[in-house]
Amino acid sequence: MSDALFSSLVAAPADPILGVTQRYRQDPRPQKVNLGVGAYMTDEGVTPVLDVVKEAETALAEACIPHSYLPISGLDGYGAHVQQMVFGADSEIVLSGRAATIQTLGGTGALKVGMDFMFHICGERVASTSLPTWGNHNAILGMAGYEIKPYRYYDAATNSLNFEAMVEDLKALPAKTLVVLHSCCHNPTGYDLTEEQWKVVIEICQKGGLTPFLDMAYQGFRDGLDEDAASIRMFAASGMSFLVATSFSKSFNLYNERIGALTVVCQSKAEADVVMTQLKAVVRCNYSNPPAHGAYIVERVLSDPQKYAHWKEELGGMRERIRSMRKALADEMARLGAKRDFSFVTRQAGMFSFTGLTPEQVEKLAADYGIYAVKNGRICICGLNTRNVQYVAKSIAEVL
Ligand code: LMR
Repeated sequence: MSDALFSSLVAAPADPILGVTQRYRQDPRPQKVNLGVGAYMTDEGVTPVLDVVKEAETALAEACIPHSYLPISGLDGYGAHVQQMVFGADSEIVLSGRAATIQTLGGTGALKVGMDFMFHICGERVASTSLPTWGNHNAILGMAGYEIKPYRYYDAATNSLNFEAMVEDLKALPAKTLVVLHSCCHNPTGYDLTEEQWKVVIEICQKGGLTPFLDMAYQGFRDGLDEDAASIRMFAASGMSFLVATSFSKSFNLYNERIGALTVVCQSKAEADVVMTQLKAVVRCNYSNPPAHGAYIVERVLSDPQKYAHWKEELGGMRERIRSMRKALADEMARLGAKRDFSFVTRQAGMFSFTGLTPEQVEKLAADYGIYAVKNGRICICGLNTRNVQYVAKSIAEVL
């Protein structure tokens, strides 16, 4: 064979997050623990099907809806209900209609469509992400062709947010930079901005002509659905144009249904209508139109006040379990007299804790104890439960 088309290719590295799950699955040790991927699990170690999802799926099975194509922008009514959840039902943005929302393939799909739209249609060429950030942000931006200028966010020496450095770096960005911000539950650090700090960031974005892209993958996992949307609502009140990526993977435990939304906030309804046509053009040449199952479920819950209230309760239950596991881990580390103070775990929010574990310590945890974390030291607190938290704490204490 003389065809050398692929012969010089080298294998791509395993995904830094999803690759951890692969390795975990292959481990035969019964005591193994997966603290890699950000996916919720119960105290029994399973990803639950929420009551509201069960109810919707039962109704859907009964309804036997034909599998014809959805519109390119997604299920009718879905975008409007997503906007109400994100901005509040009586928000000016919802009432004026100056935002365009499309259904996407999870939060990642929202980021991908949004980043492609800003690059190919709006001509932005520079993007900025936090140091550190979720690895896929930079991968998607890089694939689109952006030059990436990161902004500092986390100070490893003090294991805390370095807001001064963040401000300095944001101020230095050129106008028309797409700035990716984590609206709550920062991934991977778990450290969020305060209201005062968000005000400063909004002002920098406005003065500097930057384009904020708010990644909202974990709405409801910090303090609650409305509480967690506070930063987005501050951007909304500022009057500036921005983008929001919403994920329902986490908040509905619908990981494999790939259900999310991209919202582009514009200056007027007329502008939003034009943006919608361009978003549809981006979707059409990528995957044509979205799948329906996850959208039917989410739309059924978002559009019904009773179901919405029940979902909020279920989400609250997940949030509380994560919080109790943060405390259990910190307490256990203190009880063991670990070399490092682990109380920071309780000051971080969302699914993750950035532990400061080195890549070598992470590898030792995997090889010697069957405990799997992301190489940068991020652990997913959802992988902890009342049966394994002591084992995990003891193992971490031993590798420190
Ligand atoms: C994570 O950060 O673990 C999740 O967002 C899952 C993913 O796709 O990386």
